[in-house]
Amino acid sequence: MKNLRLVIFFALLAFVIVCFSSAIFAAAKNIGGGNITYTSKAMGSVTFKHSKHPDAVKNNCSACHPKIFKQKKFSSGVKMAAINKGKYCGVCHNGKKAFSVKTCAKCHKK
Ligand code: HEC
Ligand code: HEC
Ligand code: HEC
Repeated sequence: MKNLRLVIFFALLAFVIVCFSSAIFAAAKNIGGGNITYTSKAMGSVTFKHSKHPDAVKNNCSACHPKIFKQKKFSSGVKMAAINKGKYCGVCHNGKKAFSVKTCAKCHKK
């Protein structure tokens, strides 16, 4: 009888641990609008990750929304030429607030 209780106890414990950890992983994935991938054949696609952006993690959404980006993917007219002129991603990726637009491979992955 004692053994059966122990088995049930540990089964429940394992279940609770699994539930909690998947909730934590789901929360990390779901920061802001998640991941957004811009495709570029020439340079390799660019994945913007909300979860890797300190402002998004700190719930400071207004660092980007709505002034720099609309809250709908591919709706803000993000273009490389404008990024190079310090707009969109280039507002921060200027080598001061974050790595520079000149380090292409930090954004473009083949
Ligand atoms: C560092 C800049 C930045 C921050 C901070 C940020 N976002 Fe975003 N967000 C973006 C970009 C870039 C896009 C895509 C815009 C586009 O493609 O036109 C986007 C898109 C979105 C979308 C649309 C996703 C979709 O699939 O259409 C939602 C929702 C969103 N963000 C919510 C949030 C919330 C909530 C926060 C705060 C927790 C936040 N964002 C903080 C940059 C940011
Ligand atoms: C409000 C400022 C801000 C804006 C706007 C912004 N970023 Fe960032 N980004 C940061 C900061 C801060 C970091 C972390 C510090 C660093 O890596 O220099 C970062 C890190 C990154 C990283 C490295 C982390 C990772 O995901 O591997 C990538 C890639 C990136 N940003 C892409 C983009 C793209 C693409 C855009 C435009 C769609 C963008 N960022 C717009 C501030 C910004
Ligand atoms: C901060 C992130 C970031 C960095 C760094 C970056 N890019 Fe981009 N790039 C983007 C995003 C986002 C797009 C997608 C825009 C679109 O859909 O047109 C893009 C698109 C492009 C495109 C295809 C669209 C076009 O306008 O022709 C080319 C080519 C390009 N980048 C070249 C470069 C080169 C060359 C560098 C380095 C000198 C560079 N990029 C650095 C974010 C970045």
